[in-house]
Order: sequence, then structure tokens, then C-alpha cells
Amino acid sequence: MFRNSVKIFCFTIFYISTSTAANPCRDYVELDDWRRSVSNGDTYQLCDTFLVPGWYRVISQAGQEMPTECIRGGFRCGTTDTVWMNGTFPDAEEVKNVTACASDYNDNCCANSYDIQVKNCSGYYVYNLVPTKSCPQAYCFGYELPCPLGETSPTNFTPGCKYDACLKINHNEINDWRRSVANNNTLPAICDSFLKTGWYRPTSKAGQYMPTECPLNAFTCGTTHPIWMNGVFPESGETNNVIACSVGYTNDCCLNQYDIQVKNCSHFLLYNLKSTKNCPEAYCFGSELPCAEGEISENGFSPGCKIDPCHAVNYKVIKGQEKRTSNYTLQPDEDPIDDSHLPTSFYRFDSQTGNDIVNEEQAMFQCGTKFPIYMIGSIPNVTDQTVSRRFCMSGYNGSCEHESQIKIQNCGNFRVYFLKPSPLKDSGYCAGTLPIQTNQDKPVVPDAKKTIDDDDLPWIVTVAVLGLVCTILTGIILVKKLLAKTRVHEELPPPSYSSVNVNKPPILHDIHASIPQK
Ligand SMILES: *[C@@H]1O[C@H](CO)[C@@H](O)[C@H](O)[C@H]1NC(C)=O
Ligand SMILES: *[C@@H]1O[C@H](CO)[C@@H](O)[C@H](O)[C@H]1NC(C)=O
Ligand SMILES: *[C@@H]1O[C@H](CO)[C@@H](O)[C@H](O)[C@H]1NC(C)=O
Ligand SMILES: *[C@@H]1O[C@H](CO)[C@@H](O)[C@H](O)[C@H]1NC(C)=O
Ligand SMILES: *[C@@H]1O[C@H](CO)[C@@H](O)[C@H](O)[C@H]1NC(C)=O
Ligand SMILES: *[C@@H]1O[C@H](CO)[C@@H](O)[C@H](O)[C@H]1NC(C)=O
Ligand SMILES: *[C@@H]1O[C@H](CO)[C@@H](O)[C@H](O)[C@H]1NC(C)=O
Ligand SMILES: *[C@@H]1O[C@H](CO)[C@@H](O)[C@H](O)[C@H]1NC(C)=O
Repeated sequence: MFRNSVKIFCFTIFYISTSTAANPCRDYVELDDWRRSVSNGDTYQLCDTFLVPGWYRVISQAGQEMPTECIRGGFRCGTTDTVWMNGTFPDAEEVKNVTACASDYNDNCCANSYDIQVKNCSGYYVYNLVPTKSCPQAYCFGYELPCPLGETSPTNFTPGCKYDACLKINHNEINDWRRSVANNNTLPAICDSFLKTGWYRPTSKAGQYMPTECPLNAFTCGTTHPIWMNGVFPESGETNNVIACSVGYTNDCCLNQYDIQVKNCSHFLLYNLKSTKNCPEAYCFGSELPCAEGEISENGFSPGCKIDPCHAVNYKVIKGQEKRTSNYTLQPDEDPIDDSHLPTSFYRFDSQTGNDIVNEEQAMFQCGTKFPIYMIGSIPNVTDQTVSRRFCMSGYNGSCEHESQIKIQNCGNFRVYFLKPSPLKDSGYCAGTLPIQTNQDKPVVPDAKKTIDDDDLPWIVTVAVLGLVCTILTGIILVKKLLAKTRVHEELPPPSYSSVNVNKPPILHDIHASIPQK
């Protein structure tokens, strides 16, 4: 039994080891480094002294075949001592033992030699490689190079690299929605008389198509002589030669003509433009416009602009109406909140007691009103856009005597509600759930904290000056009065002398008149 198990185990191990060894077409390590190309003259980059021995498949677009001729003098393949293969490639499914040679700068074509193997996997080769003996020394594969900057090929490698206007480096972007044929604001007028000849990609959200019909008048595309295209758009990868025409003030549809090109880069369009003869004269692109203020769309442009309830121009604010809180009960002597004349609009609540419509059932006289209106259901998510919720009004006949559907949108930091006049007099919307803060609860702000603005200063100075003047005046008056009194007392003769001092009867009379008679 035990012996059997050992046998099976050993057989399995043997099977696995032989099968992996026998299957290098499947079990290999990928080598993807175009720098190993014989055409790569940048040296001192690669070294294979630490290469893990084993089977490798080269997948680089530079080529998968190890060169079979000596690379004289080295200094290729991203290294100095270039390793090539002194032998021929095997036939299908065949494994071949070959010698790999390192050629060095002394023109020695086999300065080092290595026993390697190559297998033909019908479609690709795999190489059983060993580490090199010195450094920098590396295996070479392929002869191709990446296309130079601004050129491309199906593989992005030689051969067949060609200039391609679709490459980002070969064209400029024009990102100006004012060139839209729907834009009739021509100030300041766009002028292309200084445009450098070359390929341009319109990237504005107004659109990338040059209009193919003559614009209705000259005052469009943010200019006074818009240029349209008298031609058709090309298929993917194609370039069409077309005539572009500018529009004159008399609606002449071809005031000036330009030979331009339009290219379909499959995901976008390119135009080969030249500078205009006149100024202002400008190329039109697209036909959309930015959404109006308070409107939104997916990209902020037409089509599909719609009212954005979260934009401040589109909602009214109900501010500081704390008695709308579900915590407040209408008092017998109070006027109930009455929303029966509330203008229909989006509303946002802004109150210390809470900024959202109450979503719990409310009994009559709650929320500072007689017939409170509350919401059934949860506040929507920001991602929900505008949603509808059921609203109920409590009355004598029950807690949902009247119901309606109300639109809500979650604007992130606040919610807006599309409210209509409430169904009954003395009915109102409940908003907020917190208790109203009484004066006792409110933190006392010390007066000293109050800062003096520059605006307050002239006023304060005036008051201070007036106060000072008043004090001085009062002082003067008081002093005068006091002096007068003392003088009166001095001048007041003993009553018995009255008849004797005949020289001052009027004064005496006056004084007697001002002194209360006893
Ligand atoms: C493999 O062998 C076949 C048949 O001999 C040959 O046509 C082919 O070029 C060889 N190389 C590859 C990579 O398949
Ligand atoms: C090829 O090389 C391997 C080891 O590298 C060796 O086991 C095998 O015998 C060689 N085959 C021939 C035909 O020389
Ligand atoms: C390549 O191999 C052949 C045959 O084995 C041999 O005659 C020749 O000298 C080798 N070339 C070099 C450069 O080592
Ligand atoms: C410009 O376009 C807007 C929006 O399309 C339009 O309301 C306005 O009347 C136009 N103005 C002129 C001068 O055509
Ligand atoms: C450009 O080519 C693509 C296919 O890649 C096509 O879907 C598109 O409609 C073409 N553009 C124009 C303007 O014809
Ligand atoms: C208001 O809130 C206070 C404190 O949370 C609570 O004691 C009181 O019962 C509430 N009143 C109502 C009518 O909800
Ligand atoms: C959206 O709202 C639902 C309830 O309406 C909730 O269960 C869910 O977690 C919310 N999702 C997010 C992302 O807030
Ligand atoms: C209560 O219901 C009765 C009958 O259903 C109706 O006549 C009465 O007007 C209702 N009262 C209110 C305040 O709606």
C-alpha cells in the first residue's frame, strides 16, 4: 500500500518534471525589450550576467529572432558585447543545440561562447538561455526600432514608419466654443489671419464638425466672416481635400476660398488649415452652446440643457422660520404659519432648527401651523437627481387628510423642494426638528468682543463730539444759572426795604415773579 503510494508520488514528480521540460513552448518567460535590437546603438544599458537560466520567448516588436551573423565590433543591442547565434533555426517542433557567441569591440566574433537551445514552436521560437560571463554583454533579438517621434506604423516599429497628423505631436488643438455656428456674439471678433498653417483638432464642447452649409448670416462663429466647409467628411483614416468658404456681409456664401484638408482619425477629426486673407475671418467648429446660467447638462453644453434646481437663481430661500420645526407646537394666541399663498417654486430652508422637511408624521398644531405638512420617505441621495416624494397634511380627519407629490433634489450641502401653495388656509410645511433656542440658551456675546468697523467710525466720532459739546453747553448753562442765582441772592434785598430802593423796581418785580410766592 505504502510502496504503491510512493510509486505514484514518484511517478507524478517524474511526469511533472519531464512534462515541463518537454513543454518550453508553453512554459517560458516573456522578454519584451526592444533595446535588444541590433539596430539599437544606445549601449551600456543591458547586461545578462544575472539572467535566470531557462526558456525565454521574445515578444518585442523589434523582432523575435536572434541574429545569426556576427555583429562586428559590438556596441549594439543596448550593450557593448553583443551575443548572436552561430547556427541556424530549427524546423517545426524541433529543439536545436546551438552556440551563442559574444562579439566584442576588438572585432572578436566569439569572445565568449554559450551552449544554448532554440525550439521552433510553429509561429514563434523559444530560447533556453544562460547568464553571460561578463558585463555589459547581452543577447540580441530582432533588427527593428520604434518609429521616430511624429511617425507611426501598424506596429509602431520599423519598417513602414510614416508621418501621421493624427499623432498628438503633429497637430494643435483649437478649444474655443465661440466658434460655434450657433454663437452670434461676435465681440471680440475671432480672426484667423495669423493662424499658422498646419493640422488642427477642434476640441471644444460646442462640437468638432465644421459646418457643411453656408451659415445664415455673417455674424456667427464669434466672427463677422465665418468660414464653412463645402465638402464631405472622410471615412476612418481617410483625408479629404475640400474647399472652405467665408461668408460676406451681403450673405455672399463664398467671399474668400481656401483649399483645406479634413482627416478622420477615427475618434476625432483634424483640419489642415491656413491663415485667412481678411480679418476678422475665422473657421467655424461645432453647433452647440454652453447652457444658460442656472441650467445644466452632462457636459455643460447644449443639447439637453435643463434647469438646475441647485443653482441659486432657481430656488427661493425660506430663512430663519424656526417655528416650522416639528419640535414647536402652535400656541393658542398665535397666528398659524400659512403656506396657502406660497408661490410655486423650488425652496431651500435655512433655519437654526434644521434645513429639511420633516419626514415623520406630525399631529395638528405642530410646526407652528394648524395643519402641518410633512414628508413620507427618505431624503434622496445626491446621485438621485430630482425625485418625487409623497407629502401628507394632518387634519381633523386624520394624519394624511390631504396628500400630494413633491419634487426634491439633494444638492449636497442642502436640499431643494418644489413647493406649491398648501391646500388649506393655516396649513404649512414642517421644516427642521430641533428645539427653538430661547434667549437663555443662546450664548451671551460679551460687548467687548464687538469690533469697530471703519464704517462705524465717523458716526462714533460725531456722537462723541456732539456729547462733548452738549456736556460743555450744559456745564456753561449750569454755571451761568448758578452765578445768576448767587447774584440774585446778593441783589435780593430784605423784603422790608422794597419801598426804599426805588431805583430797581423792575428787577425786583422780575425776581419776585420767578420766585414762587409763599
Ligand atoms: C518553424 O518551422 C517551420 C517549418 O519548418 C518554418 O516554416 C517556420 O519558419 C519555423 N519558424 C517559426 C517561427 O515558426
Ligand atoms: C543538447 O543539450 C542538452 C543540454 O544542454 C543535452 O542534454 C543534449 O544531449 C544535447 N543534445 C544534443 C543532440 O547534443
Ligand atoms: C561558427 O560555427 C562554425 C561551425 O561550427 C565555425 O566553423 C565558425 O568558426 C564559427 N564562427 C565563429 C565566429 O566562431
Ligand atoms: C443670438 O442668439 C440668441 C440665442 O439663440 C437669441 O436669443 C438672440 O436673439 C440672438 N441675437 C441676435 C442679435 O441674433
Ligand atoms: C470617422 O470614422 C469613424 C470610424 O472609425 C466613423 O465612425 C465616423 O463616423 C467617421 N467620422 C465622420 C465625420 O465621418
Ligand atoms: C422638543 O425638544 C425637547 C428637547 O429635545 C423635548 O424635550 C420636547 O419634548 C420636544 N417637544 C416636542 C413637541 O417635540
Ligand atoms: C442612497 O439612498 C438609499 C436609500 O434611499 C440608501 O440605502 C443608500 O445607501 C444611498 N446611497 C448612497 C451612495 O448614499
Ligand atoms: C372631515 O371629513 C368629513 C367627511 O368625510 C368632511 O365632511 C369634512 O369636511 C372633513 N373635514 C375636514 C377638515 O377636511
